[in-house]
Amino acid sequence: MKVGKVLISAEQIEQRLAEMGARITEDYRGKDTLLVAVLKGAFMVMADLSRHIRLPVDIDFMAVSSYGSATTTSGVVRIIKDLDREIEGRHVLIVEDIIDSGLTLRYLQRNLEVRNPASLEIAALLIKPGLQKTPIDVRYVGFEIPPDFVVGYGLDLVGQYRNLPYIGVMVDDAAGD
Ligand code: IMP
Ligand code: MG
Repeated sequence: MKVGKVLISAEQIEQRLAEMGARITEDYRGKDTLLVAVLKGAFMVMADLSRHIRLPVDIDFMAVSSYGSATTTSGVVRIIKDLDREIEGRHVLIVEDIIDSGLTLRYLQRNLEVRNPASLEIAALLIKPGLQKTPIDVRYVGFEIPPDFVVGYGLDLVGQYRNLPYIGVMVDDAAGD
């Protein structure tokens, strides 16, 4: 395997995150807001999206591990790192890299909902439409992408490629591009 063509350039990502940040700024004005990113994949989206949110928001991280192979999700999630503080009464916005089956996020939503936040919404840079195995309501979406495995901008293949500044599609070496 190797990285194939650029699917979404760094410039496109930056422009879209600026738009999303502007909308979030309008929607969350005056609210006690906590941005929650899911490690490790969402670390770059969090860093760049949060800089476009012109509000005094709080930031926290969760780390989860889903059992399964390198390129598919089993839906069984283990929390490796939980939030530092309680979220009761706060407006929580989950910042995600990608929604594939949606099973990881659905699990997280359920887990956070019982803690009684004032609201709980999702912002995801990428979504693969039609692949969701559970209904999932994503308030802010960056890009809809084909059902291919992508890497870069936080997303990995067995731990690699997270530091690419763009989103790339994995292609086999045999494909010979
Ligand atoms: P889901 O539970 O299937 O929606 O996806 C859970 C996680 O799998 C995502 O947060 C990513 O970390 C990872 N993932 C899903 N699709 C891809 C992909 O195309 N490339 C890299 N990671 C992915
Ligand atoms: Mg993720």
